Amino acid sequence: MTTAGGDSVTLRFRGEEHAFPLVEGTEGELAIDIKDLRSRTGLITLDPGFANTGSCNSAITFIDGEKGILRYRGYPIDVLARHSSFLEVAWLLIHGELPSRDELDGFIDRVTHHTMLHQDFGRFFSALPKAAHPMPVCAAAVGALATFYQEPESEQKVQESIVRLIAKMPTIAAYSYKHSLGQPNMFPRNHLDYSSNFLRMMFATPCAEYEIDPVVAKTLDMLLVLHADHEQNCSTSTVRMVGSSKANLFASISSGISALWGSLHGGANQKVIVMLEQIAAEDGSADRFLQRAKDKDDTTRLMGFGHRVYKNYDPRAAILKEACSEVISRLGASSELLEIAMRLEEIVLADEYFIERRLYPNVDFYSGVIYKAIGFPVDMFTVLFAMGRLPGWIAQWLEMRRDPAFRIGRPRQVYTGATERGYDSKVGLRSAGAQV
Ligand code: ACO
Repeated sequence: MTTAGGDSVTLRFRGEEHAFPLVEGTEGELAIDIKDLRSRTGLITLDPGFANTGSCNSAITFIDGEKGILRYRGYPIDVLARHSSFLEVAWLLIHGELPSRDELDGFIDRVTHHTMLHQDFGRFFSALPKAAHPMPVCAAAVGALATFYQEPESEQKVQESIVRLIAKMPTIAAYSYKHSLGQPNMFPRNHLDYSSNFLRMMFATPCAEYEIDPVVAKTLDMLLVLHADHEQNCSTSTVRMVGSSKANLFASISSGISALWGSLHGGANQKVIVMLEQIAAEDGSADRFLQRAKDKDDTTRLMGFGHRVYKNYDPRAAILKEACSEVISRLGASSELLEIAMRLEEIVLADEYFIERRLYPNVDFYSGVIYKAIGFPVDMFTVLFAMGRLPGWIAQWLEMRRDPAFRIGRPRQVYTGATERGYDSKVGLRSAGAQV
């Protein structure tokens, strides 16, 4: 970040002028540095949803939503999706550079040897209701890791916690699923790669092995790469906010999982399939859905469309659309939902309402179609998103903690409630039936 050529922005307030410097990112993005705004003017800013607020400097992920560009540490997402494994990308995000062969082998080895959960975790899962959605189960389990590995404050302890988290997340995710079915948990296998191991823990039983299709495992790995980071979105900002109080890594990531669960964020991939299935169950035509999504008096939204940052095709959706056909034909799965999705996309992209608002398919639109073809139940879709996002959350948490400008996150507000009121101690509580 540099100061932008001595440029500044002047604010005129109550007869006085205040100049605030501009800062410029490495991709030319300009921001007004308002660190001193309140101390100099007494003013704060009001920005609901933080759509105009830069909360930090970050060197991890670059998005140009107008052009549909996404890069991790400078590498375009389509290049990483084609050439890199998920663990290689995790290293890149966390350490800032691609790993050497030795670094990657060492990292894979450490992750592979930390995949088992403490034996006492069995009791943790059995205490939860079988009908529980796997997202709160995963959030609780990751939070519970903090009770096994306490206060990882030193750099070495933090690095150990990072390996443990990445290693144990697929095990936690698979166990949350097995628990919902009442099936025995499958132990991880050290000879399998990250995604193959997860597929086996999900779908094998002690009675029947799961045959791992290398194309499916590779596609799953690529899906994790596509989800690995997305700069200051809702869940990442949550991880940073919680971590800014110096809460430990497990607690911070647990809060990120909870934030991701919501249907306007990671939870949308599940809702997309529900929507496509509903369209299929009607007459395969999306007309009714489209009309409802466009109706101001209806809260329906077309799930998997629109994005706060992308005002162009989400580059991840483009990669996934291509992968859908390959996985479906490989597995001989029904292509009905994919056909409906592609038809829907075509209609939407030609519709004035969506054109005007620049609403394009996002990452959640096609990911669910692939997950479903592989055999994941819809409740697990957002868990897969969380598995993928884990290295991004970790990288952002580390960057925040190492930032020389580190401060606890603490936004302000414009208070709109009652001004000071008298309290009559003789009457006390408001009498029943009084007007509120
Ligand atoms: N269907 C119909 N209308 C939509 C949609 C949609 N999916 N998305 C946005 N709009 C409309 C809004 O109604 C609004 O219209 P208006 O200007 O007439 O009031 C306009 O487009 C702008 O929408 P906002 O809600 O202001 O955009 P915001 O940036 O706040 O929301 C969001 C972005 C939450 C992603 C939104 O597009 C949405 O709800 N999409 C559906 C859910 C979804 O797919 N979420 C996944 C996002 S990707 C991710 O988190 C991984």
